[in-house]
Amino acid sequence: MTVIPNSIHARDIASIVHPQTNLAKHREVGPVVITHSEGARIFDDGGKDYIESVAGLWCASLGFGVERLAKVAYEQMRTLGYYHTYRHRSNQPNVDLAEKLLSIAPVPMSKVLFQCSGSEANDTAIKLIWYYHNAIGKPEKRKIIARNMGYHGSTAATVSLSGKADMHADFGLPFAPFLHTEFPHYYRRHEDGESEEAFSTRMADALEIMILEEGPETVGGFFAEPVMGAGGAVLPPATYFEKIQAVLKKYEVLFIADEVICGFGRTGEMWGSRTYGLEPDMISSAKALSAAMQPISALMINEKVYQAMLQQSAKLGPFAHGYTYAGHPVASAVALEVIKIYEEMDVVGRVKSISPTFMGALEQHGDHPLIGDIRGAGLICGIELMRDGVARVPFDTGLKVAERFQENALKHGLIPRTVGDRLVFAPPLIITESEIAEMSDRFGRALDDTWAEIR
Ligand SMILES: Cc1ncc(COP(=O)(O)O)c(C=O)c1O
Repeated sequence: MTVIPNSIHARDIASIVHPQTNLAKHREVGPVVITHSEGARIFDDGGKDYIESVAGLWCASLGFGVERLAKVAYEQMRTLGYYHTYRHRSNQPNVDLAEKLLSIAPVPMSKVLFQCSGSEANDTAIKLIWYYHNAIGKPEKRKIIARNMGYHGSTAATVSLSGKADMHADFGLPFAPFLHTEFPHYYRRHEDGESEEAFSTRMADALEIMILEEGPETVGGFFAEPVMGAGGAVLPPATYFEKIQAVLKKYEVLFIADEVICGFGRTGEMWGSRTYGLEPDMISSAKALSAAMQPISALMINEKVYQAMLQQSAKLGPFAHGYTYAGHPVASAVALEVIKIYEEMDVVGRVKSISPTFMGALEQHGDHPLIGDIRGAGLICGIELMRDGVARVPFDTGLKVAERFQENALKHGLIPRTVGDRLVFAPPLIITESEIAEMSDRFGRALDDTWAEIR
């Protein structure tokens, strides 16, 4: 693309550092400027339309513009557009939202802490693991374990928690108390003849060995996404969480379910924890909580954690943590309305009923020479690009297959997400059958073009 002087593209290049963007390449190619939307489609400033197959960043569950939510935000801004929740202050939408979340939690939860992003929710959970163990007289339980390729955020602590080496490089991270156990990617990592159950046993054994080697008296928490999102939409293998949770219970390690992507219907239940039988002590949620229309996140904690905090607060005084916009009335009012919309549309029923169409549309490309494996649940699916899908031989990295696919997908009007040589699909939960058909058609054309380039 030639960047025209003084265009929005040129002004962007001159003024913005974009997250997760190749900075040198950005200077050459400039931004794709998105102007408006229609259902699961977005349009760029040249009028070209794209099917958004990952709902932005797995978050725009109701599409990219919702009149009803705009009205709620407008009304709330007129009556109380801001007030904080520090020092005993409160507001109606925030209380209503907290009650609503507790009423739909997948396991009994006691209280909610609000923040503005998934990272902040997980950062808060990290602090609470430490606070809790201090409260119960086990201050040495400071180590926190997550999984290789897990993703929990971009702050210094949550990216340390995340198992993404590319996000640690040259930042001097991860911080010391964060450890990473095995990446439970069955298709890529199972041994020949190893069943999903046996693979899960091996994953749980690896976790137990790590805890024993570190000293169980030093391990305080474990984080997991029910389905790993930024790791490549990787589903947990059969019996994985059952076996992992048995290890956590044995060594009194708090379990935090990161539901930032999975919460609110994505996996075909309201929570990924429900789909996969998780019984966490804390649950972080964001993204679809407000259908991405307001920056808000919620961390739910169980009674055990709350009682310990109560005890500490009695000893230390105020609970010394918070964010200026925590419990923001406008964000809360919008999130509350979003949950009302989910109930009216029966979001779980909708995802369950459209999931076979979605999976079928992707699986029809299963025999394509680029594709090695396709697995999904609800409206999330991960597809592995492989030179030989049966023998599990990957493409040479020098071929840059995913990068080529990405270019071809954009050309054909499909916004994809790639993670290494994995393709990820997680469209808005309102995607229609005809949009799914279009997505599949564009996907097929992008695959064919990519194959033509490398065969
Ligand atoms: C599972 C998970 N946790 C946490 C985060 C961080 O959320 P945020 O970008 O809102 O800070 C993300 C973001 O993609 C995520 O996928």
